[in-house]
Amino acid sequence: MASSTACLRLPCAPAGLSGPQSCRGAHFSPQRAAPAGSIGRARTGLRTVGANGTRNGGVVAGQGSFWGGALQLECTARKNEKVDRRAGECRCAGNEDGGKPGRSYSLYDQASNLLTNVLNPGGSGNMPVAEGAVSDLFGRPLFFALYDWFMEHGPIYKLAFGPKAFVVISDPIIARHILRENTFGYDKGVLADILEPIMGKGLIPADLETWKGRRRAVVPAFHAAYLEAMVGVFGRCGQRTVDKLDGLLAGAGGEVRIDMEAEYSNLALDIIGISVFNYDFGSVTKESPIIQAVYGVLYEAEHRSTFYVPYWKFPPARWLVPRQRKFATDMAQINATLTDLINQARDTRQEEDLEALQQRDYSKVKDASLLRFLVDMRGEDATNQQLRDDLMTMLIAGHETTAAVLTWATFMLAQNPAAVAKAQEEVDRVLGDRQPSLADIKQLEFIRLIVAESLRLYPQPPLLIRRSLQPDTLPGGHNGHPEGHAIPAGTDLFISVYNVHRSPYCWNDPEAFRPERFQESRPGFEGWAGFDPSRSPGALYPNETMADFAYLPFGGGSRKCVGDQFAVMESVVGLAMLLRRYNIALAGTPEDVQMQTGATIHTKDGLWCRLSKRQPGTAVKAQEQAAVTV
Ligand code: HEM
Repeated sequence: MASSTACLRLPCAPAGLSGPQSCRGAHFSPQRAAPAGSIGRARTGLRTVGANGTRNGGVVAGQGSFWGGALQLECTARKNEKVDRRAGECRCAGNEDGGKPGRSYSLYDQASNLLTNVLNPGGSGNMPVAEGAVSDLFGRPLFFALYDWFMEHGPIYKLAFGPKAFVVISDPIIARHILRENTFGYDKGVLADILEPIMGKGLIPADLETWKGRRRAVVPAFHAAYLEAMVGVFGRCGQRTVDKLDGLLAGAGGEVRIDMEAEYSNLALDIIGISVFNYDFGSVTKESPIIQAVYGVLYEAEHRSTFYVPYWKFPPARWLVPRQRKFATDMAQINATLTDLINQARDTRQEEDLEALQQRDYSKVKDASLLRFLVDMRGEDATNQQLRDDLMTMLIAGHETTAAVLTWATFMLAQNPAAVAKAQEEVDRVLGDRQPSLADIKQLEFIRLIVAESLRLYPQPPLLIRRSLQPDTLPGGHNGHPEGHAIPAGTDLFISVYNVHRSPYCWNDPEAFRPERFQESRPGFEGWAGFDPSRSPGALYPNETMADFAYLPFGGGSRKCVGDQFAVMESVVGLAMLLRRYNIALAGTPEDVQMQTGATIHTKDGLWCRLSKRQPGTAVKAQEQAAVTV
């Protein structure tokens, strides 16, 4: 049995505080170390685990998520660890005691459990409790551990260790209750605490009153004509990536080794800048201080969510801790740029009623951005500060998520040649030489399903966070307690979208990459209506209505993502343009792609691929080959 060399310490202490040197460097490095001769912009890394969920590859380290912050610890653990699911014990077999019943907890674990009891007094009623040790979380991202406890304890359980207690939900019936049926009984809890210094009163962290007003203003901005205009932006930005890749291929004799995650990140940043505030970062082709500042702020958001103690709330930290000084500089730079853009938009304001705005002829408009819309809307007199918060929120919410979808779609496709052949056949047939239009996106059904299936396996974010504002009674869920569970006000909850999306009770063969699954119905069980595509005819992607909350790629209920259609269209255009022109293979094995989570699930060292030119129109031949090899 593997033993661990668990180092029980706080994660990733910044320079100036105690903590592991290795991690410190990773957070600050603006450039990811790229293998010699390789191409790609760096992203920083936190901690890793095999991307396909296997406990592979030497020393791996555990990492929780942005949305599940404040529970993260770090250690090292040996490879090939297994999860022991004996009743009453949910132990990572890679830990020192091998997970034997009746083991004695380490001093650290005991302190942690004591802390839980002191800070979270009161029983958990009839709710199962995932009792264990903080070290159970070692060696892998938090959401992997939450899945194992789901298998052990069922649809709802209390995670009762660490400084906080969380109720973890892995069931569509309970998710539906929280997200839709009692939507205003919950707010964003710890997530809002983390994001408020960055997003202010933007939609994600906003208090209920602010949220209501801003949601009313922001949702109409994503109207049909705007989305259609944005498809043009996606195509033009996608073309930049294509031109860059073509250039690299021309100079490299037919094949290039490249970090596709970095390319997707650049593409998504250019798109979000132009579409949200009419600012062209130009990041596909160049580096600039403002781009570095945006990435710096994203990394800081990630750091804050994975650090045990919110030391940045202590004012002197802003001057004493180098990364906090850098954060302040980055924020100042982004704020200055956003303020300039807001002032320019105000100076050229053309006030119009909502209907007139939604019928604008975007082919004649120079600036089609959301900012333009929000400033021009009659009766909407948001302050500069509120507009800044809205823009910052959409910049962050819309950038990494989409880049992550493209990354994991590519990762899965590279392992599924039959799906690639089918996708390329569709792209050849529907698009020919054109850049995708809105009508094309509707025709590119299989590509849309690839995006959906990638979001099922790798939801962005993997956990949704809520805190109950009043006492509530949650349903028991599938195979759960028939009377449900009473929870007091102030209860922190994780809805594990990762668990719901991979639930064996809701999905056939849940671990498999099979985009066609969304074309088939699946019967439900008591309280869950099953999956039925006919429930939402003509939908752009399989949604929570079709799946009765067993599929939540964009959340559900009142806080559902405002950019869902935008994001699906952007991903489809990006994927279609690349699949048409290139053959993409992983540079190493799937296990080489190490996973880590921050705001989203991303890789540690990039998605290194081998890219070669594809002859468009060769899909049929490739399909025949795939049929032989798969
Ligand atoms: C594939 C890409 C995307 C994914 C997977 C995604 C996912 C999500 C999810 C799951 C939520 C709900 C969070 C919760 O309930 O706690 C959300 C909310 C949100 N998203 Fe997205 N999103 C994506 C792209 C975008 C884009 C492109 C934008 C804007 C341009 C955007 C803006 C927002 C905003 C403002 C919210 C907060 C909504 C509210 O609370 O009223 N997202 N997103």
